[in-house]
Amino acid sequence: MKKTIIITGASRGIGRVLSLYLAPKGYDLIGIARNREGLEETGNLVREKEGTFVALPWDLSAEDSLEKLGEKIRDLTSTVYGLVHNAGVEYYQHFENNEPEDVMRILRTNLLAPIELTRILWPELERSGGAVVSIASLAGKKGVAYNSLYSASKGGLILWSEALRQEKRSSGVRVSVICPGYIRDTGMFHNGRMPPPRLLGTSPPEKVAEAVWQALEGPGMEMIVNSGPIRPLLALNQLWPALGDRIVRWFGVVDLSRKRIPSAQ
Ligand SMILES: NC(=O)c1ccc[n+]([C@@H]2O[C@H](COP(=O)([O-])OP(=O)(O)OC[C@H]3O[C@@H](n4cnc5c(N)ncnc54)[C@H](OP(=O)(O)O)[C@@H]3O)[C@@H](O)[C@H]2O)c1
Repeated sequence: MKKTIIITGASRGIGRVLSLYLAPKGYDLIGIARNREGLEETGNLVREKEGTFVALPWDLSAEDSLEKLGEKIRDLTSTVYGLVHNAGVEYYQHFENNEPEDVMRILRTNLLAPIELTRILWPELERSGGAVVSIASLAGKKGVAYNSLYSASKGGLILWSEALRQEKRSSGVRVSVICPGYIRDTGMFHNGRMPPPRLLGTSPPEKVAEAVWQALEGPGMEMIVNSGPIRPLLALNQLWPALGDRIVRWFGVVDLSRKRIPSAQ
């Protein structure tokens, strides 16, 4: 029997690249996002690669709608082998200028929906000895100025995954989290059309897709996808967060984030 993988955020960006990467590997893919046309386009591209893809248009930020989404998924498949939480939104803004809707939209999409959907589909995941894979961000490892809600959501996703990975070690369900840095060619950083900070560089989206595949078939883990080794800097930041702040500023991350505030463009 083919393994069913659910990919949120499959209508464009990294989610589309991931769907195409997984297409020839013999999975049944179910793609979730709001934009039906985007999902259909991903589905057509997957089928060109002899893969299967079912589009399931859904707004993951809609309050109280995830139980219903779980029912829709159960109508489509009796097993869920992989649940890939890839849908995400970011919004560069001075913290105090965020509207209450911005706060809820970002936290619901990036953090609450992955947690709640995993809880709802847990029996299916346990039955198949499956994998939960969340796409977080390096912004969840070191908070990013002017993107504090996004950082909060991704930091939450990383620690939730870490806790669940330990708790469910003997359940058969493997829990992983992937932390990409700046990704080129497609996706939210690419769409911002700004050069990456000096010394940090970018990685291709296929590297994220490869990491997801490893997580789907390997043990639960945390993986970083970045153009260079970043763990020594993260370790420095753990020891001396104020030094971490200085390094990030020196790299140009704060300046870049300020330029990405819509009113600054
Ligand atoms: N690109 C990067 O440099 C980078 C770096 C680190 C981490 N990441 C993470 O990688 C993941 C994918 O990002 P991306 O760069 O591919 O971004 P993207 O091109 O903006 O795509 C985001 C995806 O999320 C979906 N989505 C957003 N809100 C949704 C909602 N309320 N309900 C359902 N789907 C929703 C979008 O579909 P619809 O608009 O059709 O709903 C789209 O498919 C995100 O979690 C992001 O935080 C990206």
